[in-house]
Amino acid sequence: MNSSIKKSRIVHLNRITKIYGTNEHKTIVLQQISFQFLTGELILLIGPSGSGKTTLLTLIAGLTKPTTGTVSLFERNIEHYTPMELQQLRAKRIGFIFQTFLLIDSLTAIENVEVVLRFIGKPKKDVHLRATQLLNRFHIEYLSRRFPPTMSQGEKQRVAVARAVANNADLILADEPTGSLESKQGFDIIRLLQTYAKEQNKCVIVASHDLRLVEYADQILRLEDGMLREMD
Ligand SMILES: Nc1ncnc2c1ncn2[C@@H]1O[C@H](COP(=O)(O)OP(=O)(O)O)[C@@H](O)[C@H]1O
Ligand SMILES: [Mg+2]
Repeated sequence: MNSSIKKSRIVHLNRITKIYGTNEHKTIVLQQISFQFLTGELILLIGPSGSGKTTLLTLIAGLTKPTTGTVSLFERNIEHYTPMELQQLRAKRIGFIFQTFLLIDSLTAIENVEVVLRFIGKPKKDVHLRATQLLNRFHIEYLSRRFPPTMSQGEKQRVAVARAVANNADLILADEPTGSLESKQGFDIIRLLQTYAKEQNKCVIVASHDLRLVEYADQILRLEDGMLREMD
């Protein structure tokens, strides 16, 4: 990335605590977590299963609320968005990648991408061209007319990345994106995401328990016992 490109703050967590349940059945998942997520970086959120990685991603996306503390998304407190505004924000500025990719099996690769473009109101004449460009960008134009059940895991993950960035998302949230893959394929997806963060000056947050991903991250955050630690 050109060093003159200005990084901006996409997410600001301010003393976040998340507690599930009440009284004797209380689980304190996150304790007083503060952090700022900037563009131009891939941030790896590492931690054992049950440490709160998914919880933290859902808080950032405004899908759940913190018990105490504030989450600011695009420089505005999440509490100040209406549910409709939050929904719009997720559709237009955030991309999601899940462990199982959640592609629509009855649609071809290109249609899986086109769905997103239509949903955000891209003019009809531009949808197909933009979807084609996205498939080219991730070297999967040959999958265009294929359906997900006929694809390898590695191919599915590329379609999932193309779909996640179709809205030119400023923030990508990936939850265990390498979980169902062989290691070589796992590294492939994280490289694609790292390039996206760097070249497009976007913020990518990847949650994983896989320590082998650390070398692809600009920043590593470790969640354990409810605390967030920055690692070198
Ligand atoms: N909706 C929920 N209600 C109650 N407990 C939950 C809920 N979601 C997650 N938890 C608990 O919070 C902890 C963290 O879960 P999670 O965020 O899924 O961790 P990770 O993604 O790191 O595996 C776990 O102990 C889990 O059982
Ligand atoms: Mg999880």
